[in-house]
Amino acid sequence: MNADSRTRLNQTPEWTALARHREELGDLQLRELFAADPGRGAGYTLEVGDLHIDYSKHLVTDDTLRLLRELAAATGVFGLRDAMFRGEKINITEGRAVLHTALRASRDTVIEVDGENVVPAVHAVLDRMAAFSEKIRSGEWTGHTGKRIKNIVNIGIGGSDLGPAMAYEVLRSYTDRDLTLRFVSNVDGADLHEAVRDLDAAETLFVIASKTFTTIETITNATSARDWLLTELKADPEAVARHFVALSTNAEKVSDFGIDTANMFEFWDWVGGRYSYDSAIGLSLMIAIGPDRFREMLDGFRLVDEHFRTAPAESNVPLLLGLLGVWYGNFHDAQSHAVLPYSHYLSKFTAYLQQLDMESNGKYVGRDGQPVEWQTGPVVWGTPGTNGQHAYYQLIHQGTKLIPADFIGFAEPVAELSDGLKAQHDLLMANFFAQTQALAFGKTPDEVRAEGVPEELVAHKTFQGNHPTTTILAKDLTPSVLGQLIALYEHKVFVQGAIWNIDSFDQWGVELGKVLAKRVEPALTEGAQVPGLDASTTSLVAKYRELRGR
Ligand code: F6P
Repeated sequence: MNADSRTRLNQTPEWTALARHREELGDLQLRELFAADPGRGAGYTLEVGDLHIDYSKHLVTDDTLRLLRELAAATGVFGLRDAMFRGEKINITEGRAVLHTALRASRDTVIEVDGENVVPAVHAVLDRMAAFSEKIRSGEWTGHTGKRIKNIVNIGIGGSDLGPAMAYEVLRSYTDRDLTLRFVSNVDGADLHEAVRDLDAAETLFVIASKTFTTIETITNATSARDWLLTELKADPEAVARHFVALSTNAEKVSDFGIDTANMFEFWDWVGGRYSYDSAIGLSLMIAIGPDRFREMLDGFRLVDEHFRTAPAESNVPLLLGLLGVWYGNFHDAQSHAVLPYSHYLSKFTAYLQQLDMESNGKYVGRDGQPVEWQTGPVVWGTPGTNGQHAYYQLIHQGTKLIPADFIGFAEPVAELSDGLKAQHDLLMANFFAQTQALAFGKTPDEVRAEGVPEELVAHKTFQGNHPTTTILAKDLTPSVLGQLIALYEHKVFVQGAIWNIDSFDQWGVELGKVLAKRVEPALTEGAQVPGLDASTTSLVAKYRELRGR
């Protein structure tokens, strides 16, 4: 079926069958599912690469999963997947191919866009990045005054920030600890101020990351960083060449900014910003962990790409995770999805996934240009699990909302920890396992009474359970495992966008705010009359000017 002219999703027989099935299941209980099938715990699991996926604690039966796969087949998920891998222009509103998978393709792969194999260029840039990273790491590349570079400040926003910032945290224990990395994204001057205030400019490299090189936040911060550098070094603009590199698709704008394009690392319009940290956008990360570790991470991505491309529907993990999200979002009215890592190193993981998922699938217009009549992307949220337990887990356990959640944990603590700190790992993971158990099976009133709880408190201490979770468990947190996890979520998001018949690869929804900010700014700075400014904003701007004494 053509994805753009197909029958409306909610009128297909497969959708109707799922709606009927949902009604038939009624108040299906996880306790009953486990009681009826002792093999469920071990049976409802899949493996991909180093990841063990347990989906037994979901409100699904074999029939549910079969019906969901039939929906995926009817909506042409695998057909669109193949078109993506082939380099077809499936980003229809921007007329672009969607080829983040080419960023981790092996050297001998051939992937053509407009008749040209893009893989050699990918590897040429990776090789240049590797050579540059080694120069920084070895001290061969020095700053304008001849000092070794010790500080890397990545300036970018959205996909040009979240990916490298997240991955740097995840892989901290693999980084060169003599290097200081900082990430500046916010146009609030405080961000850059805090990032550079204790740095020696002579030892600092700015990595300006922007696909378009027109993003106002990034160009403003980059300009301020250049001013800071030249003031600190009391140097002429030629000093910029030793302290600024650019990661971009736009050589002209890079050159206009004053960065020598010899110091630019390129990527291409078929790499979406939120899918870009394994491209040149990962340069800061590569400097921190070294080219070999970076390539191990790409191998992890590729492993899951190959799985998604070739595994049958029954054992295809991104397909499964995507379908489970459809099940809850479209047939249980779930509005959000929590991602709860049990690793301190994954502290920025969910923030990264927010852009990946919400910028991709936060759409109400379908590929056919018509408003959709079904729910699309969920609100994605979460922080490392144990901290969340003492903050918002109350609502997941006993609130009134259904919140499906992914729990991500690792069998081994990070090697670098002392023996004493490693010993804490079992406690961390005991929490990990206990939470999904409590969420799934809860505690009945009778179980509460059996503990001698007074009758008036029984209801308060009862846990209804039946909260669905996926457990993702790996042996340890390596660069490859990080690549595997990110590719898993990328393809999950792809599956859902394909089923909902939306273009997961554009982001028109962020444009209006950008345009209005440009229009409103003169009202703030000069008190200019901005035509068409609404009464609320006019009054707020007046108050702002009054508070600033203007
Ligand atoms: O927020 C919109 C967006 O275009 C994101 O998709 C992108 O990751 C971010 O801005 C940064 O864009 P650029 O890399 O072009 O500066």
